[in-house]
Amino acid sequence: MHVRVAPIRVHRFPDRETLIRVGSPAPARAVIVRSLDDPNSKLVEVLLAADALRRAGASSVELVAPYIPYMRQDKVFAPGEPVSQRVIASILGRNFDAVFTMEPHLHRIRSLAEVFPTRAVSVSAAPAIASWVKGRGAGTLVAGPDEESTRWVKAIARQAEASWVVGKKRRLGDRDVRIHFGTLPAAMRAVVVDDIASSGATMAAAIRALRSAGIKQVEAVVVHAIFAPGALTMIRRAGARRVVSCDTVAHPTNAIRVAGLFAAALKPTR
Ligand code: R5P
Repeated sequence: MHVRVAPIRVHRFPDRETLIRVGSPAPARAVIVRSLDDPNSKLVEVLLAADALRRAGASSVELVAPYIPYMRQDKVFAPGEPVSQRVIASILGRNFDAVFTMEPHLHRIRSLAEVFPTRAVSVSAAPAIASWVKGRGAGTLVAGPDEESTRWVKAIARQAEASWVVGKKRRLGDRDVRIHFGTLPAAMRAVVVDDIASSGATMAAAIRALRSAGIKQVEAVVVHAIFAPGALTMIRRAGARRVVSCDTVAHPTNAIRVAGLFAAALKPTR
């Protein structure tokens, strides 16, 4: 973007409170870049940083959070639970002039505007993933683990000039997922794409289903590499040749860079 980069200093007190310090005076437009995996302390940090920037003179403070947490708790699944998605969207929306994120979990809502009380932009990872898939060679099948991923999987496949398929998924428990793909197009190689791998059970089930349907090489691409303990091992044991992720969450599997997509989404200074 050809703009100035300034670090934000984060000091942690012995009682685990946080002190934020930004450069002063701040520019009129400030953009905080912070992915919010391992979320609880980072959420507080970005809120404090937004306040510090405004007090130092910024008239507009935007947030680029490539991964926004709590988006999957988008309804009360069992009595007594909160709708965490709305809580987090409301706090961020009230403190930032705009929020940019990538492939947020939008299964029960169609757009971020339904829950964020500010301009909220969902940047698609499809172009970056499609170009990675294209590099795997002709004849690669793009597979999504569930019907909810259809639109996204189709967009990746179209841009990669590949065929695609989505499975039917049933989750029976945190780490117990069953996936069934109907008739598969003939392919030697498949790439399973998903927005997030947490327990790894979804990705592992998709890989097993494709392999038992006769696809020899199956690779895994996730946008957000959350990977709970044991997840990567489970995915590799299911037979993944390779597991890669976008660099929305820092992780050794990061292989697909997305900074350019965010730079394009952030309009130049007004
Ligand atoms: C679900 O709808 C999401 O798209 C992911 O498939 C899911 O959150 C992955 O979770 P896990 O790795 O725990 O199966």
